Amino acid sequence: TIDAVIGRRVWDSRGRPTVEVEIRTTSGAMGRAIAPAGASTGSGEALDRRDGGSAFAGLDVRGAVASVNGEIAEALKGRPVDDQAGIDRGLVELDGTGDKSRLGGNAIIATSMALAHAAAASAGLPLWRHLAGEGEPGPLPLPEIQILGGGAHAARRVDVQDFMVIAVGAPDYPTALDWTADVYRAAGRILADAGKLQGVADEGGFWPAFDSNEEALDCLLRAIEASGHAPGDDVAIALDIAASDFGTGGRYTLARDGREIDSDGLSEMLLGWLAKYPVVSIEDPLGEDDEEAFARFTKAAPAGVQVVGDDLVTTNAPRIAQCAALGAGNTALIKPNQIGTLSETHEALETALAKGWGAIVSARSGETEDVTIVHLGVGWGIPQLKVGSFTRSERMAKWNEGLRLAEQVPTGTALPPRTAYPWGRK
Ligand code: PGA
Ligand code: ZN
Repeated sequence: TIDAVIGRRVWDSRGRPTVEVEIRTTSGAMGRAIAPAGASTGSGEALDRRDGGSAFAGLDVRGAVASVNGEIAEALKGRPVDDQAGIDRGLVELDGTGDKSRLGGNAIIATSMALAHAAAASAGLPLWRHLAGEGEPGPLPLPEIQILGGGAHAARRVDVQDFMVIAVGAPDYPTALDWTADVYRAAGRILADAGKLQGVADEGGFWPAFDSNEEALDCLLRAIEASGHAPGDDVAIALDIAASDFGTGGRYTLARDGREIDSDGLSEMLLGWLAKYPVVSIEDPLGEDDEEAFARFTKAAPAGVQVVGDDLVTTNAPRIAQCAALGAGNTALIKPNQIGTLSETHEALETALAKGWGAIVSARSGETEDVTIVHLGVGWGIPQLKVGSFTRSERMAKWNEGLRLAEQVPTGTALPPRTAYPWGRK
């Protein structure tokens, strides 16, 4: 039984205030979770409650913390800690807005996640085991890790937001991390030698001073080669274009390339990259409002390439079903704070898998030491995990939690389909 719900103002990896919630039970169990925050958010996302005004650029969360300590605590006290579905439903109803803006998406997701932690603790189980219920947990998800950052996370130095790698040939999760560490180091050396290293972007990937997106792709390919792992076979490229950030209504502005293109022009450019580079996954290749072009792109992409919807579907089950029917995308990015409760996150995941889509559980660009998503990945059997770069403790906290879980669940990585990669794999 829930005895106390405590909201607390803490800080995220961008030095911005965010919401932590702690739930205590009458039996002495405790669960705690922190809300993350996006920068390149989809328009369909649950809305964080921010105070506005002048303090911290209007981003303070005292109002959201107050809704936890007030209305939410009041509503949850005395309720059974293991009633995740009922309590999540109650939070949505209590908020009453549809986009969770009254109590705050940040207040609600931190509460929902803290509840799962408290229920697991009260059952004496690790969170992943509690989440798996009667089902088989794991295996450890396959990591998708950022090497270079751009887009909204690096002042638009390049248009593309994430240049990532997936160690598709790694036999297990720990080895996937080893290989990624090699690539990250190699990329840093290449950038420093070329005088192109500007710093690090929001998620800890290198912030390169490149003049074109292709230069960044070439650098990433050279880094994979220099790391000693075979491009494509061992380590493949994954991209998050985050196209909603540079276009609406089928018009896209490429800041670095200095030109405006339409949906077909953008698709053609990206399909060219898929033919030239060992890319296995491409996220938000077109804008969230450009579903028809998104569907044409998905159809035109080579077999075996993941086309991921993030801003397109915002972890929203009906929206995933709608895009699946259109053929827009074939994989859903799963970010709990996009939809606002764990129950709705699970529904989005189940909808994606039922439609034959893949799924990637993902952190946000604004993160903390909270590692809940790693437990969701293992407990719910989500095949892939996206957390940002391979530096900075808000990222490493998640990768390292995966290493701990790898001692308890199967570590085999869930590889994407390996047939018919476009760069000539037999
Ligand atoms: P965000 O970026 O957390 O800023 O939305 C991550 C992503 O686009 O996948
Ligand atoms: Zn994205």
